[in-house]
Amino acid sequence: MRAITLDSREESKLLLTEVQTRTLLPGEVRVLIKAAALNHRDEWCRKGLYPNIQNGVVLGSDGAGIVTEIGEGVAYDWLQKEVIINPALNWGENQKVQSASFEILGMPRNGTLAESVIVPVDRLHDKPTHMSWEEAGALPLAGLTAFRALTYQGDIQEGENLLVTGFGGGVAQFAVQFGMALGANVSTSSSSPEKLARAKAMGVSNTFNYLDHNWITKAVDDTNGFDLIIDGAVGDTLNHLIQVAKPGGKIVCYGATLGNPSKIEARKIFWNQLKIMGTTMGSDLDFKNMVALVCEKKIQPIIDQVFKFDQAEMAFDRMRDGKQTGKIVLVP
Ligand SMILES: NC(=O)c1ccc[n+]([C@@H]2O[C@H](COP(=O)([O-])OP(=O)(O)OC[C@H]3O[C@@H](n4cnc5c(N)ncnc54)[C@H](OP(=O)(O)O)[C@@H]3O)[C@@H](O)[C@H]2O)c1
Repeated sequence: MRAITLDSREESKLLLTEVQTRTLLPGEVRVLIKAAALNHRDEWCRKGLYPNIQNGVVLGSDGAGIVTEIGEGVAYDWLQKEVIINPALNWGENQKVQSASFEILGMPRNGTLAESVIVPVDRLHDKPTHMSWEEAGALPLAGLTAFRALTYQGDIQEGENLLVTGFGGGVAQFAVQFGMALGANVSTSSSSPEKLARAKAMGVSNTFNYLDHNWITKAVDDTNGFDLIIDGAVGDTLNHLIQVAKPGGKIVCYGATLGNPSKIEARKIFWNQLKIMGTTMGSDLDFKNMVALVCEKKIQPIIDQVFKFDQAEMAFDRMRDGKQTGKIVLVP
């Protein structure tokens, strides 16, 4: 089958090539991929900035498709089913934290940027019927991350002020959509006036350009501060978030695109009783609840652009350059 692999010999570090597939183990299924999507994780792998990188692995965590083969012990009903794949493997039983054997599809295990992928059957969920293949393929990883950040970790309540930073990002857009669906008063930030206009058109109450040095004052003036902030950038901007959090508020970080902060406003954290916490993807229960919300509220992922597999380098470069608004999708 054709697949996009990580290849250190290539200038782009990507190679669309023939990959040998294997026979199924008991409990596994083969899913013919109709659409897959990129996450920043795929770009970190390409840059060699992800732990335990293995050359030759098929990248990709997100995918939707049709079950074409089942392994021993898998119910026949799964054959020909239209499915989405939960890319979080071996979370375990503890809702608070993943187990030591937690793994994400697409490194070190072969992922979804391929004509087909092999996964354990318990990773499958029915494809939401209101979504196209491209939308369904774009949902899993970023949707799961945003949902857990908002609900289990952030404990968002109806009417609370929510700030989601970096609206251009995949996780951020789901956090905005889910926040609105859960009845929060949602604000977002971006470096791009066009992306902010798009957010406004979707129903976001307040928007801020985080490159504008006045944005912190403006955010506090306009909203009186935020009960919950969802952020994937961290770096020194964490101190800005500490400024705009309401006393007693929470900041939930799911990524650190800007790296570590060089200093931190400790006084404001303890005096204002702030909770700063981390989150990573989510449990099987989080995934099930995320899909239920998406289906109940008929939420549709925002698709930035759809590329063919042979345009993978363009797709990855678009993510590297932060040009996207929404998910970048790849189809075989
Ligand atoms: N822990 C997890 O489970 C998990 C899951 C998914 C992602 N992540 C991590 O989270 C980060 C984002 O992932 P993604 O897939 O959503 O990435 P993405 O789609 O590539 O989004 C990156 C976005 O970051 C925003 N950004 C850049 N500088 C910023 C700043 N100073 N303040 C606020 N936002 C800023 C930009 O927003 P604008 O274009 O709007 O300016 C950009 O579009 C990555 O580091 C990724 O590795 C972690």
